Amino acid sequence: MKIGATLNYSPLDHAARWFGRFLPKGLYARALIIIIAPVILLQSVVAYVFMERHYELVTRRLSSAVTADIAALIDIYESYPQDRNTSTLSRIASERLQLDVDILRNTDLPPPGPKPFFDILDETLSNELRRQIDRPYWIDTVGRSSYVEVRIKLDQSDVMRVLARRSQAYASNSHIFLVWMGGSSFVLLGIAILFLRNQIRPILRLAEAAEALGKGREIDFRPRGAREVRQAGHAFLEMKRRIERNMEQRTTMLNGVSHDLRTILTRFKLSLVFLEQTPEVEDLKRDVDEMSRMLEGYLAFARGEGGDAGEQAVETDLRQLLEEVQSDAERQGHVTELEIVGDPMITVRPDAFRRLLFNLVGNAARHGDRIEITANHETRWLVLHVDDDGPGIPSEMREEVFKPFVRLDEARNQDEGGSGLGLAIARDVARSHGGDIVLGDSPLGGLRATVRLPA
Ligand SMILES: Nc1ncnc2c1ncn2[C@@H]1O[C@H](COP(=O)(O)OP(=O)(O)OP(=O)(O)O)[C@@H](O)[C@H]1O
Ligand SMILES: [Mg+2]
Repeated sequence: MKIGATLNYSPLDHAARWFGRFLPKGLYARALIIIIAPVILLQSVVAYVFMERHYELVTRRLSSAVTADIAALIDIYESYPQDRNTSTLSRIASERLQLDVDILRNTDLPPPGPKPFFDILDETLSNELRRQIDRPYWIDTVGRSSYVEVRIKLDQSDVMRVLARRSQAYASNSHIFLVWMGGSSFVLLGIAILFLRNQIRPILRLAEAAEALGKGREIDFRPRGAREVRQAGHAFLEMKRRIERNMEQRTTMLNGVSHDLRTILTRFKLSLVFLEQTPEVEDLKRDVDEMSRMLEGYLAFARGEGGDAGEQAVETDLRQLLEEVQSDAERQGHVTELEIVGDPMITVRPDAFRRLLFNLVGNAARHGDRIEITANHETRWLVLHVDDDGPGIPSEMREEVFKPFVRLDEARNQDEGGSGLGLAIARDVARSHGGDIVLGDSPLGGLRATVRLPA
């Protein structure tokens, strides 16, 4: 079945997910890993192969050559016993072979010294000595730093001592290769980091711009960087323009409709004045009045949106704003409590945000006696509750009342005329800041309106 197939993750997917949990989340870090991991892998392989093959081979060749020289010297020594003081032998050795040779009379080999833990030179040289000369020997590769000493038992009494430079028997400066390899890869990484930084910055800028647009903040964004990133940037700008055009179109249309209707209503009112004032005409007048009030509300709604889009988001003191709202509610005779936790500075469009607060607190004041406002801005989000002790709104109506012109008051109190736009406007403001408003139950027994804004 198709669904089953898509729900079944292969072991490979599982492995990838498991592995993904340990990877850094940032693009920058991931891109760096993509570069660093192969470099390290490559270097390890190369270093290993180099050490294993080249280094060992070269050392073996060099050791073999030195051993061959020593073997030749032993040959000469034994073939020309007339050269008793070995001056010719020493001369040939030091001039032609760069070896320092002398013969120690009436001595024995010293006891074998401690073996170095892992020394390729000691090992290969010993092997070569056994293979090419096959006599008792003694070597010291650690005693003197730049020399290697070899002693070979020639017969019962004599021992030949040979001093060779360490570099003669050993690929001693091979580590230079590793230094170069490490050094060059550091330079490579440095360059990669610089370039990556420049490649990733435009992506971050795009993300910031998109976030700012969601919060309704003004953005100064120009597409930069690699072609694909620029493409995404242009698409983003195009989208932003389309949204703005759409909003503008809607506002113009609403304005036009409301304006035309207002003209006709005004003519209506004028005609009514000239009619005889019967109860029916009074009724008609009231209806026309209500209709024009609704229209005013509509116009304000339409204008509000258009106007808000032009307002700049700035750092605003939440405490000052809320105290203003509080004292306004208290003037109307409501017990109003205010509590602010965390940073009181928020970045919002102040006029729009004030309208949101006044709408919510105005609702609470209309329906309840006690009002409680609590704001929490301890994280990147501002969470603001407006509680009252009124009748509340049944949960199935809580989405409904956000629609423009929806009022539940009709049955409750007809004359305290709202237009039913307050919550619609408030939610509009919250959403244009990248947040939202939800309604719920208040601990005071009435309605709790909760505003959540990234600020
Ligand atoms: N705190 C509240 N307690 C009980 N009901 C409420 C509360 N707030 C809003 N309502 C209900 O939701 C409806 C819609 O509210 P909204 O603020 O959108 O319009 P309004 O207050 O009637 O008019 P306006 O705010 O435009 O003057 C209200 O008519 C009311 O029935
Ligand atoms: Mg209201």
